[in-house]
Amino acid sequence: MNAFLSRASHGAAPVAAAATIVLFSANFPSTVYAKSSTTNSSTIDAAETKAVKASIAELIQTDMDKRGDGTSLIGTYVRLAWHSAGTYSKVDSSGGSNGGRMRFSPEANWGANAGLDVARKSLEPIKELYPNITNADLYTLAGVVAIEEAGGPTIPFRFGREDFEHGDTSPPDGRLPDADKGSKVKTIAHIRDVFYRMGLDDRDIVALLGAHALGRCHTDASGYWGPWTFAENTFSNEYFRLLLEERWSPKLTHNGKVWDGPDQYEDATGKLMMLPSDIALIQDPSLGKLSNSMPRTKMHSSKTLPKHFRNYWNWVFPFQSPNLGINFGSTYTYVVNG
Ligand code: HEM
Repeated sequence: MNAFLSRASHGAAPVAAAATIVLFSANFPSTVYAKSSTTNSSTIDAAETKAVKASIAELIQTDMDKRGDGTSLIGTYVRLAWHSAGTYSKVDSSGGSNGGRMRFSPEANWGANAGLDVARKSLEPIKELYPNITNADLYTLAGVVAIEEAGGPTIPFRFGREDFEHGDTSPPDGRLPDADKGSKVKTIAHIRDVFYRMGLDDRDIVALLGAHALGRCHTDASGYWGPWTFAENTFSNEYFRLLLEERWSPKLTHNGKVWDGPDQYEDATGKLMMLPSDIALIQDPSLGKLSNSMPRTKMHSSKTLPKHFRNYWNWVFPFQSPNLGINFGSTYTYVVNG
């Protein structure tokens, strides 16, 4: 077990079997994918939920201090949650975060999931401390806590994802988005294919891509390099502001040497990056128009939304599907010119 981790003491007592509740597990769709090999559901009460969240927060902070270079697990946890869920298809309810299948082959070995082993491994001590939470719930909850630790909205979380025993029911590879399909038109078409398949629309695509305010690309994971913003641990709309306001040129060098990684863009300082898919976003008329409103958009949790304020969109962050298998279970409110 990780030496720096202790069971958070926020009033949590070990969960007595008789007092535990299984939340929402009955709501999973019984599809050909979901019904095979289901096993554990989280059995966890409110006190333990608070404790497990505090433990994840503690882990993020301790790890950040240990790294001491401004990077953290925040972005990686958000990506872990997103890649757990992002395989979902509304057509047959296959994929999604139910099952925690990223622990197993084939999902563990998909190129798109490279680097997420770091996140999954870092959560093992938490799973040890709180065996009543499933890995599937833990992967999503880590994303929720990461957003909160980054100063983002408080996200209501729903338990209910089960742990499957193997990855036999994983969907085929290729469901997570590639950052470059060779041309802007093809890349945009691909992004729409991926997100529409999940039941999301253009507004969701733009809202969700705002998560690239957090974290960074790693040459040893995707091959790309660098953060999108100067504050990669802070939830903000800087991604959109920078995307729209900076001049982005193809990256040619890195640390004084020729850049031999995949095609990406950099700002004038060479310290920030954009993926081909990020740049393609603002070159599409509909997605570009939506992106344009984002830098002027203030983000609030629905709780802090002024009652008199009416001009807002409620977008669900980040996974709008009615299928609870992938639901982060939250409303993410953007307040326009608020
Ligand atoms: C067009 C869709 C998307 C593409 C092509 C894409 C691509 C990528 C790539 C290539 C990386 C770098 C991974 C690495 O090297 O470690 C990355 C990182 C990241 N992505 Fe995305 N992404 C997309 C959508 C999303 C969405 C919808 C979210 C969340 C809601 C998200 C959250 C993140 C985060 C937080 C990171 C930073 C990871 C870290 O710091 O380790 N991405 N993405």
